[in-house]
Amino acid sequence: MKLLFVCLGNICRSPVAEAIAKKYVQSQGLNWFIDSAGTNGYHDGENADPRSIKSAAKRGYEVTSLSRQIQTNDFTSFDYIIGMDQKNINTLKAICPEPKLEAKLHLITDFNVATNEAGVPDPYYGTARDFDIVLDILEEACPQLIETIRQGRI
Ligand code: 4NP
Repeated sequence: MKLLFVCLGNICRSPVAEAIAKKYVQSQGLNWFIDSAGTNGYHDGENADPRSIKSAAKRGYEVTSLSRQIQTNDFTSFDYIIGMDQKNINTLKAICPEPKLEAKLHLITDFNVATNEAGVPDPYYGTARDFDIVLDILEEACPQLIETIRQGRI
């Protein structure tokens, strides 16, 4: 199984989703491929935002990804493409190369039964607290997403 997490810059939210999902699949003994990308390429080649790295490290996650922009071939090579907010989903739909591939697109919080958040708020212009909220949402949503896929419910 191949999962791609997508946000705007691929430096704040989707690198954290990638780190949490990688740790979870490893804990479950699943040999899945997990990656992340941005809908824009403004931060191409950069490490994740230090505030994301710090918030994730406090909870035991290592954020190692380098920013990259999503490519057309990602829509065919990945099984699931998971946006962090509705804007990301709208952009992904607009650049999706074939209508049938839109079935791979999902909003991360669609699997978040407890907090009922609609997307992961962009913390880029926010405070350290906003980065911790990203962790709060993704620590719940990523395992639920993986279990939903495992159970064949999407
Ligand atoms: P991300 O956050 O989409 O979670 O990586 C952002 C990163 C950079 C910018 C906006 C959001 N930016 O405007 O450069």
